[in-house]
Amino acid sequence: MAAGNDRDRAILFVDQSGELGGAEFALLPLAAACSSRSEVVLLSDGPFRARLEERGVSVRVLSNARVSKIDREALRFAWLYAAPGIIRQIWAIAQVARRYDVLFLNTQKALVLGALGKPFHRRQVVWYLHDIMSPAHFGRAQLMIVKWLARHAADRIVVNSQASAQALMELTGLPAEAMSVVHNGIDAAAFTQVDAHDIPALRRRLGLPQTAWLAGLFGRLAAWKGQHVAIDALAQLPHVHLVLVGGALFGEDAYAASLRDQAQRLGVAERVHFAGFQDDMPTWMKAVDVILHTSTEPEPFGRVIVEGMAAARPVVATGAGGVSEIIRHRVNGWIVQPRDVAGLVEAVETLRRTPELAQRLADQACVDAQRRFSVERYLREMTDVIEEVKRRA
Ligand code: UDP
Ligand code: GLC
Repeated sequence: MAAGNDRDRAILFVDQSGELGGAEFALLPLAAACSSRSEVVLLSDGPFRARLEERGVSVRVLSNARVSKIDREALRFAWLYAAPGIIRQIWAIAQVARRYDVLFLNTQKALVLGALGKPFHRRQVVWYLHDIMSPAHFGRAQLMIVKWLARHAADRIVVNSQASAQALMELTGLPAEAMSVVHNGIDAAAFTQVDAHDIPALRRRLGLPQTAWLAGLFGRLAAWKGQHVAIDALAQLPHVHLVLVGGALFGEDAYAASLRDQAQRLGVAERVHFAGFQDDMPTWMKAVDVILHTSTEPEPFGRVIVEGMAAARPVVATGAGGVSEIIRHRVNGWIVQPRDVAGLVEAVETLRRTPELAQRLADQACVDAQRRFSVERYLREMTDVIEEVKRRA
């Protein structure tokens, strides 16, 4: 389906993934807000397409199985095999981009394919970076390509946190003025609307233990999200159950299986509940007593943290990356160090034993989520950036 008539078509968004990751949830309200004058190109099909279309966004899928995974391995070994497909995809994006004023590239995978075609489309390029660009997450070749494109092909860079901006400045030598930090926005109303006055009934509906003290960890199952750290902690928290909400979105099935083995080995399998990917985050978050975030690497932003705050639940989060831009220790949440199992146990036990403290943190968290991370503020800041770039088009 095409969007509007050609003269109205201001923005072409490009996203590599059809999956429902945080970068896609960040793009969703923006694409919806701009739906009358934009289109989204997805480089692989998946459930994200339906989410966009439900919100009135025009979507075009330009998939290419050979390059649907431009990851470390592909960059290291498979260039020759993948090259013809990559060139076709760069060309296809450039053809569509020529009908728009601004090419908005979501994540660095889209940057590579969209920005390399700049000589053909000659459009203003906005790049929205969601990652901390460091060797912990990315291979050397990928970092080098991104460094070059960020310096030479992006007209404006938007980053999801100061932490992501800092890593990009270190990688590229670009000054802070070359990038705009825009924190994600969350639809807080979706969380306050959940009727949570009868928690046992809510849990019964979700298939969760009705009276147990319940910790929830929300996010895709991936080694760096650290679900294994939470299971290690659970072995030292005999009164606590843990629900893991999230799927192995990007081929992390072996990690998901290892979590089940770990729970068995530690004798806590009966207290760990695997819920898989769930749509209704507000209801699942309201059903728990505490929300854990356990990433072992610096989290670029961490939407689930702000969602947990909007759900008015106490959040324990690892204090690295963008998290310190969101959580203030013992004011609106609780900070632990990455991989610190003992610290996590202490945090959960303290909150379990002192419900007044847990409530105080949750109340402040809810206020902060609404005040600092609203979707309105997010959309305003993002559209300001796009409008400014458009004026140069
Ligand atoms: N999410 C979801 N269902 C799940 C697990 C996660 O809808 O079962 C959503 C969650 O609400 C959040 C996003 O996926 O908005 C994950 O974003 P985050 O920034 O926390 O992490 P990412 O996966 O992008 O690194
Ligand atoms: C990425 C990051 C996550 C961030 C999200 C939205 O997927 O891993 O930390 O919250 O993008 O910007």
